[in-house]
Amino acid sequence: MDDLAIARALHVLAIVHWIGGVAMVTWVILPAVARLAEPGRRLDLFEAVEGRFGRQARWSVTIAGATGLYLTHRLDAWDRFLDPAYWWMHAMLALWAVFTVILFVAEPLFLHDWFRREARVAPERIMRRVQRAHHVLLTLALVTIAGAVLGAHGALLW
Ligand code: HEM
Repeated sequence: MDDLAIARALHVLAIVHWIGGVAMVTWVILPAVARLAEPGRRLDLFEAVEGRFGRQARWSVTIAGATGLYLTHRLDAWDRFLDPAYWWMHAMLALWAVFTVILFVAEPLFLHDWFRREARVAPERIMRRVQRAHHVLLTLALVTIAGAVLGAHGALLW
């Protein structure tokens, strides 16, 4: 087994953990929180459950980024970023950058405090926003995964 195959396997495993977790939060945990808790308690419950995944996701996002860059280097695929036909390469990089900023910058620096302040004023509105943001990111992630698998196996070349 060569280093390229190992990097590809690690890349996909990291994506499974990371985006699988986002799907679990979006489709299972958020609806359960909305059903089970009083509006004023929803953010607390959500953060208690989701906080553990957020810490784990920092690892999977880091592994996905490192292996993705390694694959790009090993395949000598940097020029793909100049070709719109490889939109799925741009999508992977953009999605990774968005999650990196959320998990490593926004959440520790201000997102958490902002949620708390908003939840005191309008708890239902903030949970609706959290839900919408998760749906948007999950949809983009699924399109990216489909594009990357099709693209990596030659199905998107025209
Ligand atoms: C820094 C960010 C990333 C870089 C530089 C990157 C780069 C790459 C490269 C070079 C490949 C191999 C393409 C080929 O074999 O022709 C690949 C495969 C793949 N990537 Fe990424 N990636 C990144 C992030 C992501 C993200 C965020 C996702 C999904 C949410 C993703 C999903 C995939 C998938 C599903 C494959 C296809 C695996 C296969 O079927 O062989 N990647 N990536």
